[in-house]
Amino acid sequence: MARHGASASEVCNFGPQRHAAVHDGDESSDSYRVSHQAPGYGSLYNETFEGGYYAALWQKIERPLIEDILRPFGGPNRKCLDFACGTGRIAGVAAEFFQQVVGVDVSPAMIQCASVPKNVSLRIVDITNDDIPETFDVATAFRFFLNAEDALRRDALLGIRRHLRDGGHLVCNIHMNAASPAGFIYRRGKALFGERAQNTLGLEAFCAYLRDAGFVVEEVRYYGYLPRLGPLLNGMCQRLVAPAERLCRALAVPGRFAQNFVVIARRQGRESSPSAADGFAARKNV
Ligand SMILES: C[S@@+](CC[C@H](N)C(=O)[O-])C[C@H]1O[C@@H](n2cnc3c(N)ncnc32)[C@H](O)[C@@H]1O
Repeated sequence: MARHGASASEVCNFGPQRHAAVHDGDESSDSYRVSHQAPGYGSLYNETFEGGYYAALWQKIERPLIEDILRPFGGPNRKCLDFACGTGRIAGVAAEFFQQVVGVDVSPAMIQCASVPKNVSLRIVDITNDDIPETFDVATAFRFFLNAEDALRRDALLGIRRHLRDGGHLVCNIHMNAASPAGFIYRRGKALFGERAQNTLGLEAFCAYLRDAGFVVEEVRYYGYLPRLGPLLNGMCQRLVAPAERLCRALAVPGRFAQNFVVIARRQGRESSPSAADGFAARKNV
């Protein structure tokens, strides 16, 4: 495993920084690009997946699911882009199947805390503004679209699309499904307790973003039927997350009740380029 550090020249000034606890929705801010920039944020983020409910969800459900999805896309000479790679959680999984993985993120604080295999290179770059020279067979983007603002969601999809070969695939997730009970509580219920409502996003709304950016949705996989029921029940939820998943699947509980979903979408060919892609070229020329 290589440990990554950002050199002083790579560390840019991204404006005001906030330090906030990582939680179900991660940090949502007026500018998602700066939301994970505070010094130390990377180690705080990693702690989320080291113990408790989120560690169990990751180890027992999300990681095996991502392995299942990525395995058939991999192979010798196959390349994967992990957009918004953060501390390399998904890039490390992709590295099992792809010859080369490139992770890109705007946050030095996150990349500094990454620990990834040798076939993964991590770069501090914003591909919504600056292209990198390679194109990829597959792109992944996890825990990003939920909290990115509308414009950033669209720019990110177009940036990813520009770096995918024709017919290449995007594998990405939404980690607070608007249609799920947890989504309802996050959107509405929190207000009852005087807490700030948090972002939720439904499949239909997300598919509209994908379509606008020139992707065709091929498959959706729901997961995480048991949400974290608050900090007091963290231990119980940690123990029950896998059995609850098995039970819900055995009972054929509809996927919309699950808290998370992964979308597998194919990049359409150049003939169906969305007009917004031309907007990028125009922006780059001014
Ligand atoms: C919640 S983290 C997800 C990290 C990782 N994908 C995972 O699932 O563990 C969201 C990441 O999006 C990054 N991000 C925000 N805007 C970005 C942009 N324009 N380009 C690349 N990364 C961005 C943040 O810096 C942060 O590391």
